[in-house]
Amino acid sequence: MIKIKFEPTKNNVGCFIFNDLKNISQDQINEIKKLLNKFGVIFFKNQNLNPKQYVDFSSNFGVPAKYPMLKPHKDFKNIYIIERKKTDTGKSFGEGPHTDSSYLENPPRFTFLQAVDVPEEGKGNTLFFNQFLAYKSLPKNIKEKIENLKGIFSSKGKIAKTRLLREAEHGTSDIKEIKSEHNLVQNIDGKKAIYCSPGHVVGIKNLKSGQKKLISFLSSHQTKKVFSYSFGWKKGDIALWSNRSMLHAATAFSGDRRMFRITIQ
Ligand SMILES: [Fe+2]
Repeated sequence: MIKIKFEPTKNNVGCFIFNDLKNISQDQINEIKKLLNKFGVIFFKNQNLNPKQYVDFSSNFGVPAKYPMLKPHKDFKNIYIIERKKTDTGKSFGEGPHTDSSYLENPPRFTFLQAVDVPEEGKGNTLFFNQFLAYKSLPKNIKEKIENLKGIFSSKGKIAKTRLLREAEHGTSDIKEIKSEHNLVQNIDGKKAIYCSPGHVVGIKNLKSGQKKLISFLSSHQTKKVFSYSFGWKKGDIALWSNRSMLHAATAFSGDRRMFRITIQ
């Protein structure tokens, strides 16, 4: 059996995998799943999968989720297109740390992003913030405080501003608020992670005072540089992350870029 070759990123935020995804066995998929649980994000460099190969690979991780705010691929309805033109002004899609669709009752567990067309390397990086590491280094009293608390997540949180702008660009106008509650601490394979999407959390359930203070403390702790890694895209690269243990954020850039996203329920 060919082993999965992997290498952790700087700060241990995620890992690179170098195997060719076009020829991958079930044993190797199982190993990748273990690495995904362990690290939270995996970067597959220089893969150049066609849409069918991409969809087939992603189907090993679960059932694809719908995302009505983005335009689907014309032949592969579970691929959603994130596109920016050189002439676009304003913020990029997904700027500001968040986890995808965390205002839903069952947010997508995993997100795949594939670089189809990208500007030169170093432009339009995606930032990742490892929430296992963030949890581990929380002060003991905060760990105890948040252990049984639930956050209130809203589709009209801070990041909605960029989403609404994008919706306006794409002609959809469904701006009804969606809200859900989730535990601020998630347990994944016996490891704890902070789950508090700064782009979406608007309150904390049953906390009589100090909600804003706690949210702002967590947000700045979660996004410390020491828990972060900035991934620079090249055409053909794929990133796969767990939305339960990783925050991510797009960075500002100008240029032509086309990415294919698949989320897994
Ligand atoms: Fe996102």
